[in-house]
Formats: sequence, C-alpha cells, structure tokens
Amino acid sequence: MTSATVPEAFDAVAKGYDRLVGSNPGYHEHLRMSARRMGLANEGEGLRLLDLGCGTGASTAALLSVAPKAKIVAVDASAGMLAVARAKSWPSSVRFVEGRLTTKLEVAEPAKVRGQYDAVFAAYLVRNLPGRDAGLGAIHELLRPGAPLAVHDYSVADSIRARLIWTAVSWGIIIPAGSLVTGSAALYRYLWRSVLRFDGAEEFERRLGAAGFVDQRTQTMPGWQQGIVHTWLARRPRE
Ligand SMILES: C[S@@+](CC[C@H](N)C(=O)[O-])C[C@H]1O[C@@H](n2cnc3c(N)ncnc32)[C@H](O)[C@@H]1O
Repeated sequence: MTSATVPEAFDAVAKGYDRLVGSNPGYHEHLRMSARRMGLANEGEGLRLLDLGCGTGASTAALLSVAPKAKIVAVDASAGMLAVARAKSWPSSVRFVEGRLTTKLEVAEPAKVRGQYDAVFAAYLVRNLPGRDAGLGAIHELLRPGAPLAVHDYSVADSIRARLIWTAVSWGIIIPAGSLVTGSAALYRYLWRSVLRFDGAEEFERRLGAAGFVDQRTQTMPGWQQGIVHTWLARRPRE
C-alpha cells in the first residue's frame, strides 16, 4: 500500500482501531498534550476548530477536552473511520464531515467546512499525505491569520535510538497486534516504513516554514514515545 491509498486502508481496520490505540500507553493523553500545547484560551469559547484526519474521533476528543466550548469540525477521508466516530456520543458543537485533504480540502458539501479556522489539529495525518508540502499549504489557507496549527506524529529520523525503539515496538507489538485485531498486517507494516521515512523534527519545521508558517517549534512526549512522538506547533502569520 502507498500513502495515496491510506484512507481506504483505514476503512478496513476501522472497527479494531480504538482497541489497538487504547492498548498503546499514553496514546490519548499525548493527543491531549498536543491539543493543549496550542494554548487555546477560555476553553475555546467563540472558536471554530478543525480536526483534520480525525479517524474514529480520538483526536477530536482530545481537542474537545481542551476546548469544550469551541465548535469543532472533524474531517476524514475514510467513511469507515467516520462511521465509528459518529457512533460515539458527542455534543452538538462537534460535526463530522467526510473529506480529503489534497491541495485543498475536498468535501462533497463545501458549506459544511466553509471559512477559516481558529486552530487546526492534525494528528497522524501529514506523514500520510502523498503531497506533504501541498497539504501544508492547504492547511495554511484553512487558518485565519495568526491562528495556530498543531501537527502530532511520529518522527525518528534524527536519532538512532529512536529508530531502534520504533522498529522494536513495531515488529514486537504493533504489527502482530494490528494483524491479530484487524486480520491484516499491511497497514501496520506501512506505518513502520512511513515513520522511518518521515522528516526529522528540524526538517519538518523547515517544511512548515516553506509552507508559510511562522513560530515553528517542536516538543516531544514522555514515556517510550520520548523523542519518537512529537508535537509541531506553528501559526499562520498575522497579516
Ligand atoms: C492514524 S489515523 C489518526 C486518526 C486520529 N487523528 C487519531 O489521532 O487517532 C489517520 C487518519 O487520517 C485519515 N487520512 C489519511 N489521509 C487523509 C487525507 N488526505 N485527508 C483526510 N483524511 C486522511 C485516515 O483515513 C485516518 O483515519
């Protein structure tokens, strides 16, 4: 499989996704940490937020926990993942929309996502985009001037230790558990490979800068994910 077919691959594993990520210590807490790091004021009151690549809603729940008074639009290209997300209980301020980020946000009903957002959260999405630079450019356009972006993802290019731990965790736990729960190892082998190929932290900061973002900075997580899972923060310049 390739990055272009990632959403379809998620359709096939959607039902087992929550069970798998739930067994990953820190998964949900780390999403909350990344969401919190955007520093959204007043519990998000008056803000409109976008969760891109929301999957089954784990990142949406993280965003909701730090901004319970915001309006949240959560978008994913996998109908299967969205069906699992929608089956959960959400406040009326959260809306799920099927759509694909390419050089723009492509949705069947543009009225549902129209306008600029006060923050964008993209957890485990950007690594999977066939056109990463174009995707970041599209995210830049979705933000109002001055608004923050948090990208949450694995990155191991900068450290041999991180690459070794990532490979050990992938082949020792993620790939066997993934194929047990979902019946296919393909997505989890892709995950392992795509993380090894993904940008290092500084390289990704440069990529954000090239897409027009400013104030880029990187923070990591505690636990085995230290130096492996990162939050990249940046914002669209004020005009
Ligand atoms: C690993 S899941 C992460 C889900 C969620 N953000 C979380 O943290 O659990 C990645 C999600 O990104 C979605 N995705 C991948 N490429 C996409 C694209 N170009 N546009 C929209 N969603 C995409 C997949 O369908 C999948 O649900």
